[in-house]
Amino acid sequence: MNFQHPITSKQPNVGTTIFAVMTGLANQHGAVNLAQGFPNVEVDPKLIALVDKHSREGKNQYAPMPGLPALKEKIAEKIEESYGAKYHPINEILITAGATQAIYSSLSAIVFPGDEVIVIEPAYDCYEPGIKLNGGIPVRTQLTADMKVDWKDVQNKISPKTRSIMINTPHNPTGSVLLKEDLLTLEKMVKNTNVIIISDEVYEHIVFDGERHESVCRYPALAERSIVMFSFGKTYHVTGWRLGYCIAPENIMKEIVKCHQFQSYCIHTPVQYAVTDYMDNKEKYLELNSFFQQKRDYFLSLVKQTKFKALPCAGTYFQLLSFAHLSDESDREYANRLTIDYKIASIPISVFYHNFRDDKILRFCFAKTDETLEKGVEGLIKVK
Ligand SMILES: Cc1ncc(COP(=O)(O)O)c(C=O)c1O
Repeated sequence: MNFQHPITSKQPNVGTTIFAVMTGLANQHGAVNLAQGFPNVEVDPKLIALVDKHSREGKNQYAPMPGLPALKEKIAEKIEESYGAKYHPINEILITAGATQAIYSSLSAIVFPGDEVIVIEPAYDCYEPGIKLNGGIPVRTQLTADMKVDWKDVQNKISPKTRSIMINTPHNPTGSVLLKEDLLTLEKMVKNTNVIIISDEVYEHIVFDGERHESVCRYPALAERSIVMFSFGKTYHVTGWRLGYCIAPENIMKEIVKCHQFQSYCIHTPVQYAVTDYMDNKEKYLELNSFFQQKRDYFLSLVKQTKFKALPCAGTYFQLLSFAHLSDESDREYANRLTIDYKIASIPISVFYHNFRDDKILRFCFAKTDETLEKGVEGLIKVK
């Protein structure tokens, strides 16, 4: 080509996400990939058969733009059963291409240029780009050393320009969870404001040690100003199917749907039919807590043979390991070296901070078969 367009980047500081980078490095060096957050446990063949059935039966054209009504009805029932909250299936639930699109469409709908959005770091990596591409300004607060939200700092950062506060529980990457007192504090804080809460709850079914998931849906005064994100990818071990949803009060949802219709229009039709049928098997999501708790405990028992220090993990399928006492290298360098020399890939936590704060902690995904976990930890055991 003779002409190179002088395109100006709208995201000059955004590169390829760390998940793709570490997965690429793992593949290149034949390392066990505990980096990217996807399960390699078996998908229920019954669920796969349902997708096949619906596709063969001809359900292959555009689905209704906001999602299949039958699926939305099942979701409304599930939310009422799980959290005692009533959402109108047609007007208050939207089916999206994973929680990722739900987050982006929600930010597109509510953020005006110059609006501030409070982000709690370390934060999942799609939040900030979504805020900035819509002209918003991320205002950051950081978790305390014991991975709690510093609510005083959040309070200090609320201004007349605050459009939204983004929360995430159970939390990626730290595995911490918000407790009842956190949500009551938040409820009080936003009471006389117009702040909208964006609550990312994709790991709602992965909470350990008998704790219950504190969804904002349980708190009516929060729910009436919240958009809540969920992911079938996380719930049914099918992250590649890109099926998620968000729920919000009707007046807010109306605006999100307007964005969704031009961002993806609708979502994969046979998958929506299949999941609608499959949701009758409630045990499939109710048993996830104990399934992943066993995985966490097994991974921790293996890690005991290494020199790494495990941090507390109350939910999600991520375990943080500290190497602060083992090396002075940056977490990025260390993660690269573990991948190349010890054949185990992880995610350096600094990437979840805008200023790359480096506490010398790595994130490992334990949503893997026991064999994968054993093979991965073999590498960690060799680290001296
Ligand atoms: C905290 C958090 N939010 C959102 C997502 C995106 O979910 P989905 O795959 O449904 O788009 C992820 C995926 O890892 C996540 O960890």
